[in-house]
Amino acid sequence: MTALARLPEPRIFAPERPRDLRLVEGLVARAFGPGRFAKTAERLREHREPILSLSFVAWCDGEAVGCVRLWAIAIGDTPALLLGPIAVEEDWRSRGLGADLVRRVVEAATAAGHGVILLVGDAPFFGPLGFAAGPARDVRLPGPVDQRRVLVLALRPGAADHLSGAVVAPPVVAKGA
Ligand SMILES: CC(C)(COP(=O)(O)OP(=O)(O)OC[C@H]1O[C@@H](n2cnc3c(N)ncnc32)[C@H](O)[C@@H]1OP(=O)(O)O)[C@@H](O)C(=O)NCCC(=O)NCCS
Repeated sequence: MTALARLPEPRIFAPERPRDLRLVEGLVARAFGPGRFAKTAERLREHREPILSLSFVAWCDGEAVGCVRLWAIAIGDTPALLLGPIAVEEDWRSRGLGADLVRRVVEAATAAGHGVILLVGDAPFFGPLGFAAGPARDVRLPGPVDQRRVLVLALRPGAADHLSGAVVAPPVVAKGA
């Protein structure tokens, strides 16, 4: 890390607004590339809307430099949230923004009364933020996935103790219906 990268910069984590859609989609497209639509987690997001009040954009010097989204899902009979995608603009990485974005959505989801967050991601990054594969061992995603990358965080004690079953998203409501 360079000395410049350690300088503090003004950063704001604001809930995503409908007008941020293009910025967020741009960030995610640059971070993940075209393969992102083939991911199993995408099956839980396609044709659905994230929970904007629990999705955050990181702003530095007026520029949108990171984002993270939460989505409503259920794990078996347990209501839960899906975290992802999370992305930080390449030039802004390794300054703690990614970890701060995760902490921000965890704080917001806890305050809103949710019990469990699930994601498909890298344990070396999410493990230190409290996510673990153990509580997700009996959880089934709607497609191929490395089960070691299915990670869960309990937002209150015991909330992830007995998770099992299929991960499903709410039914898609046709526009205009
Ligand atoms: C993952 C991501 C959001 C992290 O953002 P960030 O602002 O750099 O995160 P932080 O500064 O809080 O943490 C960075 C540290 O996490 C580590 N890290 C980042 N991504 C990682 C990963 N996939 N696996 C393991 N460690 C990772 C980095 O090596 C870095 O360590 P360093 O500071 O010692 O260099 C960012 O790297 C990104 O947008 N990546 C592309 C999209 C992506 O892969 N997202 C999902 C990751 S599962």
